[in-house]
Amino acid sequence: MKRRDALKILGSSAALVTVLPGLANGKKMALGLNKVEKLREVGSSVILEIKGKEVLFIRESKEVIRALDPECKHKKCTVEYDKKQNLIVCPCHGSTYSAEGKILKGPATESLTAFEATLANDRIIFSMD
Ligand code: FES
Repeated sequence: MKRRDALKILGSSAALVTVLPGLANGKKMALGLNKVEKLREVGSSVILEIKGKEVLFIRESKEVIRALDPECKHKKCTVEYDKKQNLIVCPCHGSTYSAEGKILKGPATESLTAFEATLANDRIIFSMD
């Protein structure tokens, strides 16, 4: 996926999420797919800024959604999801990660930070801890 295909919403996306106080001491949040329609499409990805942090969401399959910190572990460039290869690639120096965020090829030596995320009733339930 080209960088221009990524939808990046800065500043305003905090209003998209709902904190779920009953779950895990309020650390879980919900993001309705009706608010980010693009994520209904398998193979899509989007970077949202939530609570001052960027989160890369990847709709890997009908059942699987990923949520990751998109900051490359090499020199902090923002990574991109490559739908065709189902890989995450850094445009700066080519580090490559699996869709789960595991490091596959350097120069980065660490995996991306992955957050817990699941799909339930047309919502993404996730945490950023
Ligand atoms: Fe990502 Fe260098 S910043 S590979």
